[in-house]
Amino acid sequence: MTSPHLLVTGGAGFIGSNFVHHVLAHTDARVTVLDKLTYAGSSASLAGLPEDRVRLVEGDIADVALVDELVAPLTGEGDAIVHYAAESHNDNSLNDPSPFLQTNLLGTYTLLEAARKHGTRLHHISTDEVYGDLELDDPERFTEHTPYNPSSPYSSTKAGSDLLVRAWVRSFDVRATISNCSNNYGPRQHVEKFIPRQITNLLDGIRPRLYGKGENVRDWIHADDHSSAVLTILEKGRLGETYLIGADGEKSNKEVVELILQQMGRESDDYDHVTDRPGHDLRYAIDSTKLREELGWTPAYRDFEAGLAATIDWYRANEEWWRGQKAETEAKYAKAGQ
Ligand code: NAD
Ligand code: DAU
Repeated sequence: MTSPHLLVTGGAGFIGSNFVHHVLAHTDARVTVLDKLTYAGSSASLAGLPEDRVRLVEGDIADVALVDELVAPLTGEGDAIVHYAAESHNDNSLNDPSPFLQTNLLGTYTLLEAARKHGTRLHHISTDEVYGDLELDDPERFTEHTPYNPSSPYSSTKAGSDLLVRAWVRSFDVRATISNCSNNYGPRQHVEKFIPRQITNLLDGIRPRLYGKGENVRDWIHADDHSSAVLTILEKGRLGETYLIGADGEKSNKEVVELILQQMGRESDDYDHVTDRPGHDLRYAIDSTKLREELGWTPAYRDFEAGLAATIDWYRANEEWWRGQKAETEAKYAKAGQ
């Protein structure tokens, strides 16, 4: 029997590369990564992985001919497309929504059409942001039954991509599953995102920047736990189903910044409040009961402070990975008063 072959789109980005590392460590699958290597993707995130098991193809998920060529061979037992590629940053989507429509909607459509043509299994990676936001004191968390109510150009295009997947399942019997995960942290995340931005700011002697009052709550999960959940869904998930992925990690942005400051040896109030994000979602929170009870998944990282400390250590030790992103990212934020 040959080992399964996975086509991982966006596999040179933050969570996609984590998934590739995870698959290599925990299965005997071979991986083809299809990644456009936008500003958010880096071949360095796949460095050191064995060449006989991982191949990086630089290209666009909306390139019909290329996608067809890569999906056509995926007809064996366990073969699948695992679709991470996206424009992923809310702030960028507020400045220029156009690449979000192109990649998140047309790119997903292109993959679905290839999956339909070749009968290939597809797992679509999505976000809890499709559900909009919650009040700080709302006793309910997001479940698979929460109505869609996205707020930003980013989250609305992710919501649209989820709906395309559902329609292709129902109308064309495409063998697909969807997962909606909460905020990820861990190594190899672009410095535009909240946690790496504050860590690398402090390493550069810049005070952390908190949008608005810092009361917004995110539900943090380590990227390794996201990867183990996706692998579980690929192995045991029911076709056509949606699974929410979360690790009960709710924290306000202010709490996270204070922890980073403490862990990096600074006073916990040594940060600046800056201009808030327009339309800023207040709170996300995931109820992952279905994934845990139906498929038996549990997160391995239960201590956010320990995971954060390890993430800080990674950015300290891997300056060559992030240095090239930093100046341009901060220049963009400075323009927005952030
Ligand atoms: P990222 O921005 O770090 O990586 C995205 C990757 O996709 C990059 O490598 C980029 O080069 C690639 N890409 C972009 N456009 C492409 C195109 N047209 N063709 C091929 N490749 C393209 O994003 P991330 O944070 O790793 O997120 C990955 C996925 O997980 C996204 O679908 C995102 O919506 C979802 N997600 C992210 C989080 C989070 O906290 N970061 C949480 C839940 C879900
Ligand atoms: O919930 C899942 C989503 O999490 C994913 O779908 C997105 O791809 C991912 O980017 C993330 O979205 P957020 O907008 O929540 O993440 P971001 O890292 O941009 O911001 C996290 C919180 O921190 C948010 O409330 C905004 C705030 N923030 C962000 C930055 C960059 C700050 O206070 N200061 C900052 O400098």
